[in-house]
Amino acid sequence: MTSHFLSMNDLSDAELRGVLDAADAFRTGAFRAGADSAKPLAGKTVAMLFEKPSLRTKVSFDVAVYELGGHAVFLSREEVGLDSREPAEDVARVLSRWVAVIVARVFDHRTLERLAAASSVPVVNGLSDVEHPAQALADLLTVRQHHGRLDGVRVAYVGDANNCALSLALGCAATGASFAIASPEGYGFDPERVKAIQERGAGARGGTLRTTAEPRDAVEGADVVYTDVWTSMGQEDETKARREAFDGFVVDEALLAHANPGAILMHPMPAHYGDEVPAGMLEHPQSAAFDQAENRLHAQKALLRLLAGGA
Ligand code: CP
Repeated sequence: MTSHFLSMNDLSDAELRGVLDAADAFRTGAFRAGADSAKPLAGKTVAMLFEKPSLRTKVSFDVAVYELGGHAVFLSREEVGLDSREPAEDVARVLSRWVAVIVARVFDHRTLERLAAASSVPVVNGLSDVEHPAQALADLLTVRQHHGRLDGVRVAYVGDANNCALSLALGCAATGASFAIASPEGYGFDPERVKAIQERGAGARGGTLRTTAEPRDAVEGADVVYTDVWTSMGQEDETKARREAFDGFVVDEALLAHANPGAILMHPMPAHYGDEVPAGMLEHPQSAAFDQAENRLHAQKALLRLLAGGA
């Protein structure tokens, strides 16, 4: 594999399956009993460079590093001043002298690419404007946890074709799950992203992509109903326009009823209650959102083990 994890496409299908298997072993406690319970990050440090706020990504990576025997150093935007105090390339070159992995959450995906180009240690995408692949690993793990498989599972995504949507769509394409996305006009995947998802699904067991403007069309018969915020971090000045555009794209009990009876509701969180989901919706009996949040830890342990643990 490439040494960086900026995109779901940085993992081959086999590597992705391996990460999900290892994550499942962490989730179920299987690693605790065997030889794999050794601390693969012992004596190693992970730098966590965050330009944006975070709860799940920050804490789950920090706990993952601790549980793997390593040490995490959190670096806020104010402390480091990426491209204001010093260029991203120099930050990557300096951190590479000390740490085993750099996890970075950035506004602009190009910053991640520049960090990766200058770094001699793996760079992990902790969210950019293009992808959120660490989230997608946990998402796929959660689907497998609840449905026992990914191949043939029908995922319906209702909302903005954002970074989470792209990483999840690539992950579904790689694992044989079908992905139907319902977005208002102007908020769907652009043709380049549609092509990338279709190419990822072009293998023997690849999953298919379907786009629609009708939430009910996507959700009918689905095994997973997934939604995310209409306005992501950095888009706050578009809130009013987006609320108007996404009118009719609320994932509520009535929409969920069109999915299969055993369908799960997923959301990467944080939720904007009253926008994409009503208050209380993530506590619905069909909601898997808190398993999904827990699975960030297991998935990231598996990823770090692969990138820096000699797995
Ligand atoms: N889902 C997610 O990445 O959450 P945070 O923004 O809290 O890290």
